[in-house]
Amino acid sequence: MFSESLQQVAAGHSALSKVKMTVRSCFYLETDRLQIVKFKSIAEHRKLTLSKPEKYDYIEDVVCKETDIKENEMKLLPLGETGAKVLLIKQKGELHAIGTKCTHYGALLHTGALGDGRVRCPWHGACFNIKTGDIEDYPGLDSLPCFQVNVDSSGLVRVKGKRKDLEFNKRTKQMCEQDPSNQTTVVIVGGGPAAAVCAESLRQEGFTGNIIMVCKENTVPYDRVKVSKTLDLSIEKIVLRPLSFYKNHKIEIKRGVEATGLSTSDNVVQLSNHEKLTYNYLFICTGSMAREPDIPNASLANIHVLRNYVDSQAISSKLSPDKHIVVLGLGFIGMEAAAYCVNKCASVTIIGRGTVPLQPVFGTAIGDRIKRHFEEQGIKFIFERNIAQFVAKEDEKSAVGSVVLTNGEVLPADIVIIGIGSKLYTDWLKDSPIEMLQDGSIVVDKYLKTNVENVYAGGDIAYAPLFGSDDISAAIGHYPLAHYHGKIAALNICAKITPLNAVPFFWTTLFGKSYRYVVYEKREVKRYAIIATIENFIGHGKPDKVRIYGSLENLEFFAYYIKDGKVIAISSVGADPIAADFANFLQEGNILTEAEIEKQRFDWIRNKPKDLQIRFETESVVDP
Ligand SMILES: Cc1cc2nc3c(=O)[nH]c(=O)nc-3n(C[C@H](O)[C@H](O)[C@H](O)COP(=O)(O)OP(=O)(O)OC[C@H]3O[C@@H](n4cnc5c(N)ncnc54)[C@H](O)[C@@H]3O)c2cc1C
Ligand code: FES
Repeated sequence: MFSESLQQVAAGHSALSKVKMTVRSCFYLETDRLQIVKFKSIAEHRKLTLSKPEKYDYIEDVVCKETDIKENEMKLLPLGETGAKVLLIKQKGELHAIGTKCTHYGALLHTGALGDGRVRCPWHGACFNIKTGDIEDYPGLDSLPCFQVNVDSSGLVRVKGKRKDLEFNKRTKQMCEQDPSNQTTVVIVGGGPAAAVCAESLRQEGFTGNIIMVCKENTVPYDRVKVSKTLDLSIEKIVLRPLSFYKNHKIEIKRGVEATGLSTSDNVVQLSNHEKLTYNYLFICTGSMAREPDIPNASLANIHVLRNYVDSQAISSKLSPDKHIVVLGLGFIGMEAAAYCVNKCASVTIIGRGTVPLQPVFGTAIGDRIKRHFEEQGIKFIFERNIAQFVAKEDEKSAVGSVVLTNGEVLPADIVIIGIGSKLYTDWLKDSPIEMLQDGSIVVDKYLKTNVENVYAGGDIAYAPLFGSDDISAAIGHYPLAHYHGKIAALNICAKITPLNAVPFFWTTLFGKSYRYVVYEKREVKRYAIIATIENFIGHGKPDKVRIYGSLENLEFFAYYIKDGKVIAISSVGADPIAADFANFLQEGNILTEAEIEKQRFDWIRNKPKDLQIRFETESVVDP
């Protein structure tokens, strides 16, 4: 393909048409003319391009014929001699070329869902603008490179771009410089994804004043979702940006420091190190803490909650083949931790008050299948029980040795992992005039503004209007949404007035199977409180029924959650990009009804999973 397309370009370029093409020859575009350079070896090519980078900055090549790509199609095509690829997209008759891989964990975007003007990643729902490559929904921080596309007179599609962009496949949006004469200060209290995205978005949106981030944890923001999925993680590998990034962009981070009070009359945040920070704008995004159990002897050693990297490192350092692990809680965090531990210890037992793991999100049938999957992997469940008491080891009185359940049963327990939900980190605001609900969530409008001028709140703690609704709010513990809140807060602080408009997209990975879940929330009810974390977010309330397509047994299916004749959520396993496609569908203002799927169950799907009609033919209707 490469040498063929090169020949075609050369053929159209009279001065170059006699040059014999080899795989080691390539086009470089200097400022105003094309040049073909032949290299004897790849090493020579590298040496030359490294020593004279400015000369070889650009690459241009033919990637296909215009007729090779259809409307609303995405194609992964090689550009140039290295085999690096671009994502070519045709929409509304225009061609666009951007980077190929999601900047979050690298999913190939041509396997994702093309929406109106954006492509959504199939794995966790990040969105990229097809014209600019800019990230528009999250997770992930960086945007994609964007390449120039032309169709020449013979109908060949030529793509031109920077060699470096092609190689790195991601692009940090341009950040403005700090201006020492601008004394406007934005204080960000919190150090999670909402804080990280807000800080860098401020610079990307042209804010030249002071940015100070206050973070209780002793680190820069990191990928918290890994904490329960890969417990032996190293913090250096999971930070969202290295410390040098913040230093280079003059974003001050106070690590290991906590905000302890707020005076909105004089715009001052008090810190645990006795400093006082005066702000012009304040963004509060202090997130959640793990809920501690109110059970006798809960302070014994080796009983852990799982909220941050210190917790996960503490647990993973203690795992060994002779240890018995007890997990309390049937939600995501407990399930993920159990799945991680099972092959590294003597036993894993999960205890929960319910009868089905993850039931509030996925429903009974899917939750039951997940339970069987866990049992097949050697994990034991004990349902409708709680822990009544922790008991110390006989030979080590400070450490847990067993647990007594509410029915009197005793289980050996060398390590206990608690996954029973979370509480919001907003106690430090209780004497301030910031409007909060009883659960500690902060009431904000669709611009993330609190009731106090110039004070914004986002991430887990924000009781914010839900997608598709101005009058229903919820505080949702959700990683992509926290990123998105950071962006929206930054835009509004910069007076680029932007309302919230993102569809919640959840995921979990259990024993190598990735579960996705997209939810729609539009109900004609009065404003009320939904306290929702990743552990218990239901979003849509209880559906009337669940229609499953494909094989639940083989964990290859998708499910429609139906309430009052409307599809209010979709979950999927092994059916990408259906969840991403549904998120786009909702984002664009559509509603899917049961009547429509009864007539043509797959008609609405624009980006179809492979072999849709064959793999997902079987239908079963189950109770929620
Ligand atoms: C183990 C685990 C796994 C998860 N997995 C998933 C998943 O798979 N998918 C998903 O969508 N979501 C997941 N979540 C939820 C997701 O991580 C959160 O919704 C998200 O991190 C919230 O971001 P945030 O910026 O609001 O706050 P956080 O990430 O909680 O960060 C807030 C930070 O502020 C700090 N802070 C608190 N109080 C103060 C103070 N007074 N002063 C200064 N700093 C303070 C905190 O210590 C923390 O560092 C998971 C959460 C956990 C704990
Ligand atoms: S890999 Fe794309 S959103 Fe995570």
